[in-house]
Amino acid sequence: MHSHPEAADTLIVGAQLYDGTGVPPVERDIALRAGKIVAIGNLTNWLAEEIVEANGRALAPGFIDVHTHDDTAVIHSPQMLPKLTQGVTTVIVGNCGISAAPVTLSGAPPDPMNLLGSREAFCYPTFAAYVAAVNAARPAVNVAALVGHTALRSNQMAQLGRAASPAELARMSAQLEEALAQGALGLSSGLAYGSACAAPVAEIVALAQLLAAAGAIYTTHLRTEFDAILEAMEEAYQVGQQARVPVVISHLKCAGPANWGRGTEILASLEQARRLQPVGCDCYPYSRSSSTLDLKQVTGDIDITITWSQPHPGMAGKLLGEIAAHWQTSQLEAAQRLQPAGAVYHNMAEDDVRRILAHPATMIGSDGLPHDPLPHPRLWGAFPRVLGHYARDEGLLSLQDAVRKMTGLSARRFGLAQRGEVRVGYHADLVLFDQARVRDVATFDAPEQSAAGIDAVWVNGVLSYRDGQPGSERAGHFIARGARAASAVEVF
Ligand code: ZN
Ligand code: CU
Repeated sequence: MHSHPEAADTLIVGAQLYDGTGVPPVERDIALRAGKIVAIGNLTNWLAEEIVEANGRALAPGFIDVHTHDDTAVIHSPQMLPKLTQGVTTVIVGNCGISAAPVTLSGAPPDPMNLLGSREAFCYPTFAAYVAAVNAARPAVNVAALVGHTALRSNQMAQLGRAASPAELARMSAQLEEALAQGALGLSSGLAYGSACAAPVAEIVALAQLLAAAGAIYTTHLRTEFDAILEAMEEAYQVGQQARVPVVISHLKCAGPANWGRGTEILASLEQARRLQPVGCDCYPYSRSSSTLDLKQVTGDIDITITWSQPHPGMAGKLLGEIAAHWQTSQLEAAQRLQPAGAVYHNMAEDDVRRILAHPATMIGSDGLPHDPLPHPRLWGAFPRVLGHYARDEGLLSLQDAVRKMTGLSARRFGLAQRGEVRVGYHADLVLFDQARVRDVATFDAPEQSAAGIDAVWVNGVLSYRDGQPGSERAGHFIARGARAASAVEVF
């Protein structure tokens, strides 16, 4: 019998395949055709337009950055180099209660919506308008989006320092339902921020109840990550139970020196809750956080680096303590003068970060801030830092588990259909990296640097990054919420 060779667009041969499920790697060839993975195995008899020799390097599903603030960056900087260079092929935007859509501003964006850009950047009154803008921009990575609770509040409330009235809540609900019908992944909250902290749990539950019917998800930047974190976690579980929705706790951490060493305790709380309901978390691999400059966090017991200041741009890169000394004033007074401003807070203990990162329920999310002129290095380094520093160099977790936390787990939780694993029929979002060389290069002093060892990235089957250079074509698009697997508990 005579067998004809099969044909592919791209053949990746001799890879150590990390399939995204957490199983140990196996040597495989992979064939791509028309944006999909069409064969996995020993494919020596295949023909292809392009053959890539992996030579035993790691091939994994493209990384999914589950926690981003890339809402407007994907439209205004569609090359998305901070993410593409890390091997990220999909970003989830709209986290921490803030989203670019649906938004109609009546003035300047309230803190921390200003992390997404200035007033002009908010030009998507409906979620559908945002989807259209993403697809028109043709970003280099795929984009899926949550709707921010704070964004909904700012649409309907002139004053954010109180609970939403029943009429306001009804209008917020209508906007959320419309966005869910247009493909939103779910709802995010940022209850620690002044723009949302007056919202009672009932306000969140009322909105979250709309998620269940849609098969959507609730993510939350907890009401506090400081001393009362357990109570804040309880509140998140309560929302999940009452609204019958899966919960993701965003950037789980023990913030503030009084709270250091409690990683084991908060993970025990998470494990307890996981016996009863679908709940998980994400985490970035650094012991410093970053956001807008928050006076509540100016307590004098940690270092705070100023990353930008609207009235005093020259203070970027300096410690708040130094600035206060220079101005011969208190840190609080100096912080007030610097606002609006951005900051890096030296507010976690390394041991806690490691525990949370290694926990099986934890996904990787960068929480990178693309508009910051001196961004926290997580923007360019989060994923390779987990692979290189924490998995390979420190042995904190296996490489296959690190990959699972960036791919398979993330796609299942958020309902990103046919992504996150290397399987026949799945979208060809892939990253080829060198297990020996992969490493984050971005530092706090020089944060805008590509990672090392990320050798090639395919987005929807298109070679989008290779040997340090972006490809000629950008192949990302908006991804609507897909069906989450039947047993949500099992998935989590
Ligand atoms: Zn947050
Ligand atoms: Cu965030």
